[in-house]
Amino acid sequence: MSAVNVAMVGLGWWGQNMVRWLKGNEKLNMVKLVDVNPASEKFAAEMGVPFTTDLAAALKDPNVHAVVLATPHTLHCEQIVAAAAAGKHVFCEKPLCMNKKDVDRAIAAIKTAGVQLAVGHERRFEPGIQELFRVCQSGEIGTLLSIEGNFSQDKFLGIASDNWRLTDKEAPAGPMTATGIHILDLSCGLLGQGARAYAAVKQLGSHLVNGDTLGIMINYKSGANALITAILATPFYGRFTVFGSLGWVEVRDKAHPETPMGWTFVKNVRGQEMVTRDYAPNNPVLANLEAFAGAVRGVAPYPVPMEQMAYNVAALDAILRSVKSGQLADIEG
Ligand SMILES: NC(=O)c1ccc[n+]([C@@H]2O[C@H](COP(=O)([O-])OP(=O)(O)OC[C@H]3O[C@@H](n4cnc5c(N)ncnc54)[C@H](O)[C@@H]3O)[C@@H](O)[C@H]2O)c1
Repeated sequence: MSAVNVAMVGLGWWGQNMVRWLKGNEKLNMVKLVDVNPASEKFAAEMGVPFTTDLAAALKDPNVHAVVLATPHTLHCEQIVAAAAAGKHVFCEKPLCMNKKDVDRAIAAIKTAGVQLAVGHERRFEPGIQELFRVCQSGEIGTLLSIEGNFSQDKFLGIASDNWRLTDKEAPAGPMTATGIHILDLSCGLLGQGARAYAAVKQLGSHLVNGDTLGIMINYKSGANALITAILATPFYGRFTVFGSLGWVEVRDKAHPETPMGWTFVKNVRGQEMVTRDYAPNNPVLANLEAFAGAVRGVAPYPVPMEQMAYNVAALDAILRSVKSGQLADIEG
């Protein structure tokens, strides 16, 4: 089966990572690299892939089947809509959109065009998280009661003060759109549609002016809760724990997903011995991109349903409103 021809849009930190990981890939073939910054041409030349600053031209190119968007957050919605209108499949980095209105618009455009949508929530492709989902969905730990998740890192301590990641427009709740959104995706993947959220962010331990310490509590429609922490002023920490009426499961990350070192999985079911298992590292980002290619080629459905992508952004919307108002915010849906 032939490869999916891809244009990579946005050649910054993450876009360059994905280009390197995709080099020589049999399922996704990079045919165009796109960035508004002409200086990115040097990187494209090093990778041996044609470069353009003109996304509209890339979208008109019939040799491009799909786009991978690794651009600043507020651009995602418009770029998804434009790509879908041009008949291109879309893999978009997280957050898929910044608010409920935009995610509804983006998903409607994808459905109208009949193209595939995928999102950069690679944690879903980690073996430990996949086992955790299997256990939770099998009923083994009973009714899901509560989730605790934490994704913290200090990778942004060195970024320049004029970086878009420090603006209220692109990252309105500090760590939320960087790391908190991944934990939110896992929570929505298990608990579905949220009902209300309370969130607070403060600048406590760094120069990151839009906040480095975020705490969130979400009540889901099922009645279960998720408690999410994301900090940008402490070294890497990653944990996702699900408590149920019969037991609990947890995944601890040994390193940031950029350089995975594996995961520790723990399961404790009432009446059984506690199980602790180590998973060797894979490249979950590449696995996600390949799942997207598989869905485009009709090999297997993309494992994250669009409904769950919408739950995630609807909850994000409420979290951002709660941070601004200091009040509990209803989650639309
Ligand atoms: N999944 C993950 O684990 C993960 C990790 C890091 C970043 N990301 C996501 O990747 C995206 C990019 O983040 P980054 O850290 O690489 O940012 P970055 O600032 O390093 O790179 C963004 C790039 O987009 C380019 N750009 C800006 N406007 C553009 C436009 N209109 N068309 C084309 N290119 C444009 C910029 O010139 C820049 O090169 C964000 O959505 C971010 O959240 C995901």
